Amino acid sequence: MAARLAEHDTEIFIDGPSYHAVLSQIHRVGRPRSYFEIGAFTGDTLALSSCKTVAVDPVKRVLTQVERGHPDLTFHELTSDDYFARRTPTADLGRRIDLAFLDGMHEFDFLLRDFINTERFCHPGSIVALHDCLPRDAYMTRLWKDWEVQKPTNYPNHWTGDVWKMVVVLRRHRPDLDIRCLDAPPTGLTVCRGLDPANTVLADNYDRIVAEWRDVILDDYGVDKLFAVAAVESGEAWMRTVTPFHRAPLRALGARIQPRRRLLRLLRWAGLRAA
Ligand SMILES: C[S@@+](CC[C@H](N)C(=O)[O-])C[C@H]1O[C@@H](n2cnc3c(N)ncnc32)[C@H](O)[C@@H]1O
Repeated sequence: MAARLAEHDTEIFIDGPSYHAVLSQIHRVGRPRSYFEIGAFTGDTLALSSCKTVAVDPVKRVLTQVERGHPDLTFHELTSDDYFARRTPTADLGRRIDLAFLDGMHEFDFLLRDFINTERFCHPGSIVALHDCLPRDAYMTRLWKDWEVQKPTNYPNHWTGDVWKMVVVLRRHRPDLDIRCLDAPPTGLTVCRGLDPANTVLADNYDRIVAEWRDVILDDYGVDKLFAVAAVESGEAWMRTVTPFHRAPLRALGARIQPRRRLLRLLRWAGLRAA
């Protein structure tokens, strides 16, 4: 196991731009009109945004500097579940979400809910980026309940929890999405495009999916299998595919979608915009 992980370190991760650099490029080239972030911590990724921004985190840390330079930032000192129970990103942002970064509680069921709730407020040209879905060893994936469990690791300061399961679940249940797992150190950035706010597959199957994955651990599932399913690709190359969000609806209706589905999506999109 350790040897295979070392192989991943050198062959997959070393050359990729960091998750921060990929997000920075999306902001710079995509010029999102609305940004939604779950899990703000001290504001490193929030600081990349200069558009209308909503940040959600139950703990408010050193955000004063970001806020001072960012008049369009609203911070909600709430868990993401509480935020979605009380508020909506469209109301807070004044429009649907162009770009979302989900980096809150690193447990699978939390991220699954964050994804389901966020997608409802996206549009077909949105990008939703998920952090930490490519753990580099099993130590990183331990849950709060296993916090004291010690495993061999080269990365004692990293914690991804079990959000790696999102990659497998999205690939299995949402083949309609364009999901790219980028070689962004330290623990990957998964970028999803082709979002469909009307899709309820994950919400309808939420309990069954969570129950199915509750007791699965990475040691049993296998790091190699995860990386095979993830089909990790170059963040450097992906970054070149970013185009401005104001052109995104047309791009989202592009070649990947079959013509009939493309038309249906266009009609649905027109309806959503009118709503
Ligand atoms: C890894 S940090 C985010 C780092 C930040 N996005 C960056 O890259 O600079 C995770 C954050 O998630 C927050 N968090 C924990 N549980 C949460 C929840 N249920 N809802 C929203 N945020 C949560 C933590 O307080 C912490 O600030």
